[in-house]
Amino acid sequence: MPPPVYELLPSAEEDKTSEHSTRRTHNNRVKKVLFHVLAVAAVMFVVFQGLRSFVRSSSKFLHAPPCHGRNLSSLPSHFTLPSGAQIPSVALGVWKASPGEVGPAVETALKSGYRHIDGAWIYGNEAEVGAAIKKSGIPRDELWLTSKLWNTFHAPEDIEPALDESLAHLDTEYLDLYLVHWPIAFKRGTSNELDVELTANPYPTWAKLEELVDKGKIRNIGISNFNIARIKNLTANPLKHKPAVNQVELNYWNPQPELLQWSKENGLLLEAYSPLGSSDQVKETLRVPEVLAIAKELVITPAQVLISWHVQRGTIVLPKSVTPSRVVENLKVVALPDDLFNKLEEAATSHKPKRILNPSTGWKLDFDVFDENLPF
Ligand SMILES: NC(=O)c1ccc[n+]([C@@H]2O[C@H](COP(=O)([O-])OP(=O)(O)OC[C@H]3O[C@@H](n4cnc5c(N)ncnc54)[C@H](OP(=O)(O)O)[C@@H]3O)[C@@H](O)[C@H]2O)c1
Repeated sequence: MPPPVYELLPSAEEDKTSEHSTRRTHNNRVKKVLFHVLAVAAVMFVVFQGLRSFVRSSSKFLHAPPCHGRNLSSLPSHFTLPSGAQIPSVALGVWKASPGEVGPAVETALKSGYRHIDGAWIYGNEAEVGAAIKKSGIPRDELWLTSKLWNTFHAPEDIEPALDESLAHLDTEYLDLYLVHWPIAFKRGTSNELDVELTANPYPTWAKLEELVDKGKIRNIGISNFNIARIKNLTANPLKHKPAVNQVELNYWNPQPELLQWSKENGLLLEAYSPLGSSDQVKETLRVPEVLAIAKELVITPAQVLISWHVQRGTIVLPKSVTPSRVVENLKVVALPDDLFNKLEEAATSHKPKRILNPSTGWKLDFDVFDENLPF
């Protein structure tokens, strides 16, 4: 028999219970939804953190490249000069960095961590370099600025005005390092007429530079393109401040192991210019089989292999680039494992050396500026 209709209708008591249970069900649903929302948020948080640390570790790649089981350590970020100053081991070189290119290159460099710019009066771009430095907002005492005295200004009375021009262009009160660009003096007001006297005896030029150190306009003085004979010719004088560095061509084609050894024995730090073979030879340098093999093994770029090799040899290195990705790439140096370092050193020093830069003919000199037998 079917139940009477009233039995199918809820009683007042049943009504309350069902209202209660509907509310409970509703609360449970809300709790479940909240639980799911929280669970999804937690999963998203974990995934986000994972992605973030992946991206971070990938961007650290160039600082500490993966090395297939090799233990790569970092190289010195600075070297110490006789004055006690700490010079950053990697600089941005700005020779041949054209107007409109050099400023952005300096800006990229400073943003990516460079603190050392290697320039010169003769490069004709110091004002743009100065403006880019100013734009960066980096305090002056955190930067290392190098400039060079051009050949036409070796006469003592011409040195301070030449320095002042570089200081004004760079918009700075002092240089960290000022180099005698070449051991060749030109007569005042000429573009390449040899001043035999000042070339044979660089001491008057040096003594004036020492004065400018004492005056506070330069923190360190050095030389560039001096071979051993020319260094001895200078240091035979009663120097007050000895040369802090010698900036010379050093690359795979012209690694100058004897000059490097002699400089170490005599406490003179070398700076490697044209470290990638300059614009003329960079393509060939980056294709050297030993360089490619090391790059492949360590999962770094060929340019990084070479730049690291220079620092590991104990020299400052001055790669030039106006290409943003290369500027960033070139700052990442790592210690090559000994066997790979030795392999590259051996390859570089066992072929016939070939110098890339030699202006002797262009300057119509009747001697080679790099000849160890001084002509006078
Ligand atoms: N004291 C002296 O007499 C003297 C003489 C020469 C040079 N220096 C100094 O040394 C600095 C460097 O020398 P340098 O300019 O002759 O030659 P470098 O640095 O050996 O080579 C520069 C060339 O390499 C390219 N390059 C840079 N990084 C690269 C990378 N990661 N991959 C591929 N190509 C790359 C550059 O191209 P992009 O720019 O197009 O990227 C440029 O063509 C000069 O800027 C200057 O400060 C001094």
